[in-house]
Amino acid sequence: MSIGKPADLDIASTLPGSPGGVFMRRFWIAVHRSEDLAPGDAKPIRIMGENYTLYRGRSGRAQLIASQCPHRWAPMHLGWIEDDDIRCVYHGWKFDCSGQCVDQPAEEPGFARKVRIDTWPTQEYLGLVWGYFGEGDAPAFPPFPHRETEGVIQTWNVEHVPCNYLQSFENSMDEVHVAFTHAPGGSHAKLSADLPLISAEETSWGMMRYGRRKTGLVRQTLHYAPNVTRVIVPPVAGMEGVGGWPEIYFSFTPVDDENHIWFITSHVEVKAAEMEAYRAQRGKYEAALAQARPSGEVAADILRGRGKYADTRHPDLAIVQDIAVQAGQGRIADRQHERLGRSDAGIIAWRKILLRELRIINEGGTPKTWTRPPDDVKPTLGF
Ligand code: FES
Ligand SMILES: [Fe+2]
Repeated sequence: MSIGKPADLDIASTLPGSPGGVFMRRFWIAVHRSEDLAPGDAKPIRIMGENYTLYRGRSGRAQLIASQCPHRWAPMHLGWIEDDDIRCVYHGWKFDCSGQCVDQPAEEPGFARKVRIDTWPTQEYLGLVWGYFGEGDAPAFPPFPHRETEGVIQTWNVEHVPCNYLQSFENSMDEVHVAFTHAPGGSHAKLSADLPLISAEETSWGMMRYGRRKTGLVRQTLHYAPNVTRVIVPPVAGMEGVGGWPEIYFSFTPVDDENHIWFITSHVEVKAAEMEAYRAQRGKYEAALAQARPSGEVAADILRGRGKYADTRHPDLAIVQDIAVQAGQGRIADRQHERLGRSDAGIIAWRKILLRELRIINEGGTPKTWTRPPDDVKPTLGF
């Protein structure tokens, strides 16, 4: 087997029925930022090539249901939220949060109880709504632990990235890129003093990756199966000097095979005494971000040749840089003709795991049972 060049199975697809689609649907998947879904809101979302309606009931509960009404397929997100139920805009059929139809104003009594709309479980964690799209019972929730020390938890802007999710997940395993991709702007200078030697090992919950520097110090990054990276990163522009380096939880959620979303939550260690300074600085950063063009638009301009990569500046510059590079690899990167090297050890290791699991699924076998990651396995900074 030529590792990293999986000619026989499409490791990038997560469409329904594909081996990758079956694999991904065995995990909780981040689908929306909690603060962007107010009680009474209903929104259309697309996850792994399928459409859904996500709404928040008046009790505060997030609900995932089919995108269209089972009567005559009107879009459910156009409807009204009544308590925790949703009423279709077309003929007023109402469904409770279990999916049971409970009212049909123009129909015979007794018909409603024979009608259901599909629903999927939801949970909320780290400022995000998570959905479970697989068969049977959902795995344990939350899917992974987070840093519990004194500090601030924030959800970042949601980024829509026009390429396959695996490019971004792989990028998060590629520590060598930071010395080059993030050289302009200098945000990652401390991580670029020398190039780390990358290694990785499979765990019961995903993959642990190491970046060993000449000093002997090791940066340790966690990749939770199937699409979450937990890593310590440099502060964004303007946030240096207040609080520690953020630990981030990075979910790469497939929209379809050619688009994905970044959901990022960070934990910054901030002591009580420095909280005021931190908040003031953060306010300035957020104001600058509100004034700036969206990261994805700036990245798209660079890709079109409008504006120089090296000269681009933005409050979320590292995000602009990563989007430009990953989207620039193509909607679905060509994995058949790459030239992988030593520095790609993390990517190679994950592809090997993914390919093994997809083969098992494809052949009707029993895929690995992943465990909930232990609380005491954490990322480290490595310098
Ligand atoms: S299509 Fe929804 S009630 Fe008719
Ligand atoms: Fe990056």
